[in-house]
Amino acid sequence: MHKPACLVRLVLAVLLVCGPASLGRAQEVASRAAGLVDGHGRTETAEVCTACHAAGQFSGQRLSRNGWALVISTMIDEYEMSEPEDSIRDTILTYLSTHFGSAP
Ligand code: HEC
Repeated sequence: MHKPACLVRLVLAVLLVCGPASLGRAQEVASRAAGLVDGHGRTETAEVCTACHAAGQFSGQRLSRNGWALVISTMIDEYEMSEPEDSIRDTILTYLSTHFGSAP
């Protein structure tokens, strides 16, 4: 009697658990990037900076270029972020200070 309902619930549960894991990589990065304005370096920033926390962790901040450089160093030194290549680091730094820069 109750079996069909149970089966439906099981299928739903499996979909819920497996759904996010089966998202394409690009799609996954895109969803983690929610809250990051469009612009050069957005993809790199999303890839590197949303691996451990949501973009919301930093998208509310307004910092100078030096301030962002310090944030990146902190992530590497204190939170074991793997150090990006220099060119990627620079792209991210430029993206952050352009779109999340301190008011002039
Ligand atoms: C290896 C994991 C990891 C990566 C990658 C990472 N972070 Fe973090 N970040 C953390 C942790 C852990 C915290 C502390 C969270 C807390 O206090 O709740 C944090 C906190 C922050 C904070 C809050 C300030 C602070 O010092 O607590 C900011 C801003 C931030 N991250 C920005 C960034 C930016 C920008 C990037 C990309 C360059 C980045 N994070 C990449 C782990 C990471």
